[in-house]
Amino acid sequence: MSRPRVGVLAGRGKTGRALARALESHGAQARALGSADLERLEEALSGLAALHLMAPNLHPAEPDLVGDVLTAARAAGVERVVYHSVAAPYAPSMPHHLGKARGEDLVRRSGLDWTILQPCAYVQNLLPGLREDEPAVRVPYDPDRLFGLADLDDVAEAAARALLDDGHTGATYELGGPRLVSARDVAQAASAVLGRAVPVLRVAPEEAAATAPEHERAWLRAMFEHYDRHGLPAGGLVLQALLGHSSTTLEQTLARELGDLVSPRSAPGKS
Ligand SMILES: NC(=O)c1ccc[n+]([C@@H]2O[C@H](COP(=O)([O-])OP(=O)(O)OC[C@H]3O[C@@H](n4cnc5c(N)ncnc54)[C@H](OP(=O)(O)O)[C@@H]3O)[C@@H](O)[C@H]2O)c1
Repeated sequence: MSRPRVGVLAGRGKTGRALARALESHGAQARALGSADLERLEEALSGLAALHLMAPNLHPAEPDLVGDVLTAARAAGVERVVYHSVAAPYAPSMPHHLGKARGEDLVRRSGLDWTILQPCAYVQNLLPGLREDEPAVRVPYDPDRLFGLADLDDVAEAAARALLDDGHTGATYELGGPRLVSARDVAQAASAVLGRAVPVLRVAPEEAAATAPEHERAWLRAMFEHYDRHGLPAGGLVLQALLGHSSTTLEQTLARELGDLVSPRSAPGKS
């Protein structure tokens, strides 16, 4: 039997690579689609069993991209589409979330068999600072605000199931981790994994956005301000239901992702 081919837009990015692994583990074939495919979208989408419709992070015109891809998907005869949105897409203070809210509306009115995923921020977003020589959690917002941080591999597994299994048409799934956690919780959990102190440091929003392209900076600052006031809570029960088992805890994600940095001597519990 031939393996189903699933298209993954922005498939060479962080989320796309995790989704490709999850699809392969289910016997499907992931076809990464990127900016080079936009010129001949209909051709790129033909023959796909399903499409994971995902914009690159902070895309300046996500609704336009979503609209173009939906038009091409219909023309190419792709019937099933899973849209990668975000938790709280309708938050008015975050322009890139609002772009996803408008994307959701287009998906719901597309006439295709659609499913919408609303993942919270990934635990993995905080890994670069934890992998430095002096590991730290650096955030440009209140480190005690709560987030439904999710494990990226869990989100990818849920996406693979929505793409490959029946029964998800018309569903919108908010995907948070098993409990709400703060940046301070992440630092504490990382400290236990690494066997050394991991400080949580508050940095200026301008500093945190400094290396981003110009058009992204204002949106990032707006997101940091929202996080500073409200965090980004998200529920965890839907993700567990989709996985069919407990979702990955913060501690388990960090142990898996940082395990290579732990020398036998510094591992917790070793003397
Ligand atoms: N990070 C999080 O915590 C989080 C949480 C919830 C939702 N999300 C959402 O997840 C999605 C994926 O984020 P990500 O960080 O994994 O993606 P990403 O790394 O930003 O994706 C980058 C990829 O997108 C491709 N790309 C660039 N411009 C493109 C275009 N105009 N059209 C199509 N593809 C293009 C590039 O591939 P080529 O070089 O092949 O063009 C690149 O490899 C975003 O929509 C983000 O909002 C993220």
